[in-house]
Amino acid sequence: MSTDRSLRLEPRRFSRARLAFFRAIEQLAAALGGRAFYRALQLSPPRLREERVLLEGLAARLDGLSIVHLSDLHAGPFLRGGDLARAVERTNALRPDLIVLTGDLVTHAAEEAWWILEDLAALRAPLGVCAVFGNHDYHGRREREIRSAYAARGIEFLCDEARPLCDGALWLIGLEDLEEKRGARDAFARVPPGACAIALCHNPKGAPALHARGCALVLSGHTHGGQINLPGIRRFAPAHPGDRVDTPGGTLIVSRGLGALGLPLRVRAAAELVRIVLVAPRRAA
Ligand SMILES: [Fe+2]
Ligand SMILES: [Fe+2]
Repeated sequence: MSTDRSLRLEPRRFSRARLAFFRAIEQLAAALGGRAFYRALQLSPPRLREERVLLEGLAARLDGLSIVHLSDLHAGPFLRGGDLARAVERTNALRPDLIVLTGDLVTHAAEEAWWILEDLAALRAPLGVCAVFGNHDYHGRREREIRSAYAARGIEFLCDEARPLCDGALWLIGLEDLEEKRGARDAFARVPPGACAIALCHNPKGAPALHARGCALVLSGHTHGGQINLPGIRRFAPAHPGDRVDTPGGTLIVSRGLGALGLPLRVRAAAELVRIVLVAPRRAA
């Protein structure tokens, strides 16, 4: 069985006191109307970010293929059923070929995944709607239930799995969250050597290893763009490597996500949808 140790991370650990403090603040913010506030400011609708990515090995016939990337929905105290309706509407209006969700559907419990299922079930794209889990989605170890409920509504989870698109001209690889990898499966097992591949990996720290394994494009979330992106405060969110990181091995796109943790606030890190248009290399004349 082939597993890649570079695609594993130790979970971030917080003290009980710190977690209790964050929870108390969150409950207070929710009681003061945090959900309505967040919806009005961030989700009505969320901003749209546009990216064009030259993808080595992309077939000329797939030039212009578009993906809308949603991440970090964080159903929970500040986001419930109906709150994603405008984001879904805007996504569908872009008429993407493919829609992807890069994890953190929930905040505290698996049940929260059902709250947003009706909204997400309205997503439409000819190549499908594909998702991966984020570190928050393993609460209660109910991934199988989430996966089957979402599959019944047209959303396919890729859990260390790969799916061919466009008759195998492009592969989509979905990783389990790097903090949860249990080495059960090699995500690349079905991918032919040299295939043009895109990886969905919740944590952007996986990008270098995924580029090394041939994924020219990696789509991530997790960082919330710092969420409250101010000195001294952004350190509470995972480090944001940048919205887009181009290296010789490939391109990493990091979504700032749609939901919020701790407080229903975003500063210099607005909630966003990301539309990515793939560009095929020009052939030599
Ligand atoms: Fe998140
Ligand atoms: Fe996360």
